[in-house]
Amino acid sequence: MSLHILILAAGQGKRMHSRLPKVLHPILFQPMLHHVLDVARAIPHDSVSVIVGHGEEQVRAACEGYQGLQFFRQTEQRGTAHAVRVAEPFLAKQSGDVLILSGDVPLLQKSSLESLLRVHREMSAALSFFTASLDRPAGYGRVLRSGGKVTGVREAADCTPPERALREVNAGIYCFRLKEMLAALARIGSGNKQGEFYLTDAIGMLVADGARVEGVGMEDPREMSGVNDRADQAEVETLLQSRINRAWMLKGVSLEDPGSVRIDARSQLAADVRIEAGVRIIRSRIGAGSVVEAGSRIVDCTLAACTIKQGSYLEQSEVGEGSTVGPYAHLRPGSQLGRDVKIGNFVELKKAKMGDGSKASHLAYIGDAEIGRDSNLGCGFITCNFDGVHKHFTTIEEEVFVGSDSQMVAPVHVGRGSYIAAGSTITKAVPPDSLAFSRGRQVNKVGYAAKYRRQKD
Ligand code: UD1
Ligand code: CA
Repeated sequence: MSLHILILAAGQGKRMHSRLPKVLHPILFQPMLHHVLDVARAIPHDSVSVIVGHGEEQVRAACEGYQGLQFFRQTEQRGTAHAVRVAEPFLAKQSGDVLILSGDVPLLQKSSLESLLRVHREMSAALSFFTASLDRPAGYGRVLRSGGKVTGVREAADCTPPERALREVNAGIYCFRLKEMLAALARIGSGNKQGEFYLTDAIGMLVADGARVEGVGMEDPREMSGVNDRADQAEVETLLQSRINRAWMLKGVSLEDPGSVRIDARSQLAADVRIEAGVRIIRSRIGAGSVVEAGSRIVDCTLAACTIKQGSYLEQSEVGEGSTVGPYAHLRPGSQLGRDVKIGNFVELKKAKMGDGSKASHLAYIGDAEIGRDSNLGCGFITCNFDGVHKHFTTIEEEVFVGSDSQMVAPVHVGRGSYIAAGSTITKAVPPDSLAFSRGRQVNKVGYAAKYRRQKD
């Protein structure tokens, strides 16, 4: 049986009060639409189509990473049935079932969709859709039943007071048999309070036609939470966060104050990783036994077993086994630390490689540089990599000792085993095993200070 998936994502989301289309607002560092696309892709299917309209170009661009999507343009947003209708030229040529999802319902899980499809197929239903009983059903379409059987769905705006008191709502997730859905679509009008074409009208029509309609209760109603405003967005993000954090804890990751830790859906953590409060981990891999201390942010990184001390910010970088970074260090894109490297407080790296066992323990900037193994960069070391127009490279070979408060005006090369005297500004290559210093020699004028003080009196 073929399955076509349709994701409705053309609405503006007025209540977000935003220039960004609603479906692109992030939930855990990803546009909410990505979560829906991910769950759609996880289900065996014949096609995935996205109905776009508001902010079409932006929405399409945000889907670039997803192969093989079809887009249909809904120029005017005249309701959910109208949205499905724009895909009709395509759908009319298909057979089987169509699964309809909303771009603003990002918590839906694969296992739930699988159970909806299972019921749909076991019952040979014309339509199966999820329902949930909510304590606060306001805003949702209410499920009407008679003798336990679904008879239709009434939109909140059109409910009579007794209907409004019903707590069972339509989750907006449907599996239709294509043929019946297309027949119903053609008959849906817009004679309602909102003057919209409601997809939900198809439900009552199919029932009236005697077709089999299954309203399937959702196991966890939180999965149907839709995002209509920024308060919903925050709530949904918290729900997803607790789902992801709990899954990692059950796999052996320790989280201190899990409610304060955010790990995006694409990150991978090994067992025995310990994450302290307030940490953000985005599109990264963290190796077994690592510790990430409070308030650190790790984006697009690969970390072996290492320690990231408090308040560090790591982007597009790699950290080798046994290394420590921070507190308050910044690894900017392209930083690569070997094994047992030490990057201390207030050290910034950018496109810099540090060989095994090398150290920059305090207050340094190391950019566009390669440092060999077992070298030591003293406090206040700076690579002067930028001449105002171009970036230049610094190479420091292995076992080099760079004294504190030194600068290297790139391009420059320091040979292995050399010493750079503290306070030096190095502008020329240093041969291996040398001592380089470039600073004024010290002059002591004995008694000068005492004489000066006497003159002032
Ligand atoms: C819809 C359902 C309601 C259900 C709720 C669950 C209808 C008429 N109502 O209401 O029964 O309880 O979802 O969340 O279907 N969209 C378009 N084009 C349009 C209109 C909407 O693409 O012309 C998209 C929106 O971008 C959104 C989705 O369809 O992703 C749902 O639309 P929305 O207006 O949010 O419907 P609800 O009022 O939430
Ligand atoms: Ca909605």
